Amino acid sequence: MTRSLVTGATAGIGHGFADELARRGQDLVLVARDAERLAAVSDDLATRHRVQVETIVADLSDREGTRAVADRLSDDSSPVDLLVNNAGSGLAAWFGATDIADEERQLDRLVRAPMVLMDAALKSMAGRGGAIINVASLAAFTPRGTYSASKAFVVNLSQWANLHYGEDGIRVLALCPGFVRTEFHARGEMDMSGIKPWMWLSVETVVRAALADLDRGRAVSIPGRRYKLLATLARHAPAAIVARQARRGRD
Ligand SMILES: NC(=O)c1ccc[n+]([C@@H]2O[C@H](COP(=O)([O-])OP(=O)(O)OC[C@H]3O[C@@H](n4cnc5c(N)ncnc54)[C@H](OP(=O)(O)O)[C@@H]3O)[C@@H](O)[C@H]2O)c1
Repeated sequence: MTRSLVTGATAGIGHGFADELARRGQDLVLVARDAERLAAVSDDLATRHRVQVETIVADLSDREGTRAVADRLSDDSSPVDLLVNNAGSGLAAWFGATDIADEERQLDRLVRAPMVLMDAALKSMAGRGGAIINVASLAAFTPRGTYSASKAFVVNLSQWANLHYGEDGIRVLALCPGFVRTEFHARGEMDMSGIKPWMWLSVETVVRAALADLDRGRAVSIPGRRYKLLATLARHAPAAIVARQARRGRD
């Protein structure tokens, strides 16, 4: 692989991917909304790792922004070999207490945008191969409102695509981390005081686990032994018990 496109590359998990991929010699196409911060991250990565870095300022909650990124993925004159569908943010309140316009934008950001970008990447990678990492969440395995429902869509689609396109040399992975130390929770004004220290993962742990699982051809990556165990319990315990447990945790 020679060129990777990472959405949400200026902070958190997306920045971790961009940094690690550039360290491995990948040229980059980076996407985020804040143009100034994107330019600063681009300069830093290009200088430190001596790789080519392009940037696209785009809001993936809107159709025009998503189309601009999809068009770049469809540009076969400088093909993208790895798409990291990472950009995302949540909402501060539970569904039913939020503004429905915010919910619709979250759906566009967490479901519509990754689906549209995945479509463009699959079509461009047909015949030459490539890889797609869809950053979902451990929340996908528990019922926790519209955020977890959106992530469940991403995991389900990734699992199918891993099988369906694996034969064509296109690897697809859903990354399902638990809590990761990033800007995500502050941006969503979430109270994380109830989260135990052992539950926090570092960006580096998550990125390394995802890239290793992608190399192994896995469909789902769950970084950390404790989270693997929790995911197994969530998938095999009775649904009503999982739903009740999922109501605990952060409010
Ligand atoms: N942190 C966790 O505990 C955790 C756990 C499981 C899954 N995840 C998932 O991991 C992914 C990354 O989250 P993170 O924790 O790394 O968050 P983060 O630290 O807040 O970083 C989010 C990145 O996405 C960009 N972004 C946000 N909204 C965007 C939009 N509408 N269009 C384009 N870019 C946008 C941000 O830049 P701009 O603001 O400049 O656009 C930033 O670069 C998300 O999909 C999230 O659901 C996070």
